Amino acid sequence: MWTKVILSLVLVAFVALQFANSLTCYSCNTIQSCQNPSTQTCSNTTANATSAWLSTIHSDVPQINGSLNFKCMNLTHFIYANNSKQSEILGCFHESIPVCSLTLNATNSATWAKTCKTCTTDYCNRSPAGTFSKSSYTMIGSVVALLLVKLRSL
Ligand SMILES: *[C@@H]1O[C@H](CO)[C@@H](O)[C@H](O)[C@H]1NC(C)=O
Ligand SMILES: *[C@@H]1O[C@H](CO)[C@@H](O)[C@H](O)[C@H]1NC(C)=O
Ligand SMILES: *[C@@H]1O[C@H](CO)[C@@H](O)[C@H](O)[C@H]1NC(C)=O
Ligand SMILES: *[C@@H]1O[C@H](CO)[C@@H](O)[C@H](O)[C@H]1NC(C)=O
Ligand SMILES: *[C@@H]1O[C@H](CO)[C@@H](O)[C@H](O)[C@H]1NC(C)=O
Ligand SMILES: *[C@@H]1O[C@H](CO)[C@@H](O)[C@H](O)[C@H]1NC(C)=O
Repeated sequence: MWTKVILSLVLVAFVALQFANSLTCYSCNTIQSCQNPSTQTCSNTTANATSAWLSTIHSDVPQINGSLNFKCMNLTHFIYANNSKQSEILGCFHESIPVCSLTLNATNSATWAKTCKTCTTDYCNRSPAGTFSKSSYTMIGSVVALLLVKLRSL
C-alpha cells in the first residue's frame, strides 16, 4: 500500500517537474503565420531563433550565448494612426533580453506603436491566453490519472 502511494507521489512529482522545466510557447514571425502559430519548447536554440527575428526590426538586440531561464512573448507592432498591423513575433526568448523595450529600426517604424506581452506558463503567449492554460492543466491531469490507473494494476 505505502509503496504504491510513495511511487505515485514520485511519479506525480516527476511529471510536474517535466512540465515546470520545459516551457512551451507559441511561435510565429509574420502576421500570416501568427494566425495559426506553431509551438516550440524553449531552449538555447529556439530562443536564439527569436533573437534573430527580433534583430530584423530592432537595432539593439543583445547577443546572448545561452540561458537557463526562458519566457514566452507576443510583440506586435501597429501603425499608430490606423491600427494596421505591421509585425507580429511570438516565441521563446532568453529571459535577459528586454524584448518590450528594444529600439526599432525598421523602415517607417517611427509611426509604429506596439503591444508587448511576456509570460512564463505553457502556451501563455496567445490571445486569449486563458483557454490555453486551462487545456494544458487538463493534459497534466489526464497524464497523472493515467499513471494512477497503471499503478493500481501493479
Ligand atoms: C545561440 O547564439 C549564441 C550567440 O550568437 C551562440 O554563441 C550560441 O552558440 C547559440 N546557441 C545555440 C544552441 O544555437
Ligand atoms: C559568448 O561567447 C563568445 C564566443 O563564443 C565569448 O567570447 C563571450 O565571452 C561569451 N560571453 C559570455 C557572456 O559568456
Ligand atoms: C544554454 O546556455 C547556457 C549558458 O551558456 C548553458 O549553461 C546551458 O547548459 C545551455 N543549455 C543547453 C541545453 O545546452
Ligand atoms: C494605415 O496607414 C498607412 C500609412 O499611412 C497606410 O500605408 C496603410 O495603407 C493604412 N492601412 C489601412 C488598413 O488603412
Ligand atoms: C536593423 O538593424 C539591424 C542591426 O543593426 C540590422 O541587421 C537590420 O537589417 C536592420 N533592419 C532594418 C529594417 O533596417
Ligand atoms: C498578439 O498580440 C496582438 C496584440 O494584442 C493580438 O492582436 C494577436 O492576436 C496576438 N497574437 C496571437 C497569435 O495571439
